[in-house]
Amino acid sequence: MDFNITSDFVSGFWNMYVIVLVGVSILFCGWFLWIQGSVKYTPGDVTGHKWDETLEEYSNPLPNWWRWMYYITVLFAVVYLALYPGFGNMAGSFGWTMRGQYDAEMKAAEAQYGPKFSQFLKQDVMTVAKNQEAKEMGQRLFQTYCAQCHGGDAGGQPGFPNLKDGDWLWGGSPEKIKETITGGRMGIMTPKGVKPDMDAEQVKDVVHYARSLSGLTSDPVRAQRGGELFPQACAACHQADGKGLQAAGYPNLTDKVWLHGSSEAKQIEIVTKGMTNQMPAFGAFLGEAKIHLLTAYVWGLGGGVQPAAAAPAAAEAPAAAEAPAAEAAPAVEQK
Ligand code: HEC
Ligand code: HEC
Repeated sequence: MDFNITSDFVSGFWNMYVIVLVGVSILFCGWFLWIQGSVKYTPGDVTGHKWDETLEEYSNPLPNWWRWMYYITVLFAVVYLALYPGFGNMAGSFGWTMRGQYDAEMKAAEAQYGPKFSQFLKQDVMTVAKNQEAKEMGQRLFQTYCAQCHGGDAGGQPGFPNLKDGDWLWGGSPEKIKETITGGRMGIMTPKGVKPDMDAEQVKDVVHYARSLSGLTSDPVRAQRGGELFPQACAACHQADGKGLQAAGYPNLTDKVWLHGSSEAKQIEIVTKGMTNQMPAFGAFLGEAKIHLLTAYVWGLGGGVQPAAAAPAAAEAPAAAEAPAAEAAPAVEQK
């Protein structure tokens, strides 16, 4: 199909409708101005409208400057529609399109920033993270594409992780952060509150057990009963010790950092109904160079972890790095 970007009309009818409507309006304005100009006035004529007994309205011709202003607007409309799109689906002789303007602006931006982007792309993430100019570019990108979910300061909000706290669902090494931004992530917890899985009491018990792992308020009797359910119902993902599994985005339940808030009601809801949480993929949309800058920006916010290659025991490294952080930071209890 020949895709005409100057108009989205699917039938010729609306095209003709617009052409006729616009043409007739312009002609009518011109004609009306012209006959108004040719009306004969005698000085001193009155319209017949009278107020307050003696106040009368004179019938005077429109001032010429005023009429000419209107002629000029009519002329402007004709010239404008000859040059730019607007008259039905006619393109106008300048061939201007919104998309054309967008492409031209993108090209100008590419010429301005392109060399910078490729310069940073050649450096590793940790080097880029130290560069002030890269930081500013990364921050602008972050404000445009990420802030609506992660917050302007990257501090997150319930459901959207804090990116500067050193606590990572999926990993805070340069490779992992880049992987997250490029391909997106999907955190999926299956619902447990449906029989034959668990009844409402059991859900509550296991939630109390999970809360006890990080020292949140919990009922010890419930927590003990819940502890017996945990290995079967939860450990496949959150692991037997409750510390989670970064490779699959299963959160650590022992670290006092709560993505969805620390309220008992919310946690019961999550265990009952499950939770699906998605980070969109930006790879195709932003391209390698911008993602490289964003990775450096996020990594440099303070929570970045050393590259995986530096830590052969990948499963242990994050836990070891987290332990002091968890102690230093007071309990983060988002509501
Ligand atoms: C539509 C909302 C949304 C936008 C926009 C968004 N994110 Fe996310 N992001 C999420 C969610 C939700 C998660 C958590 C996914 C999960 O629960 O597994 C997440 C997770 C992440 C993580 C992993 C955090 C961790 O603890 O491992 C990083 C890094 C990240 N986002 C960076 C970005 C960057 C950079 C951008 C901008 C290019 C961005 N996000 C834009 C919603 C969003
Ligand atoms: C299929 C894997 C899976 C199973 C089984 C599972 N979870 Fe989860 N759980 C997850 C994932 C993934 C998330 C994070 C969702 C997100 O990314 O927002 C999560 C989140 C949570 C949260 C919220 C964490 C936060 O930071 O706010 C709690 C509490 C929780 N799970 C408790 C449990 C309990 C208790 C069980 C057992 C009854 C359980 N989960 C079973 C995968 C699982």
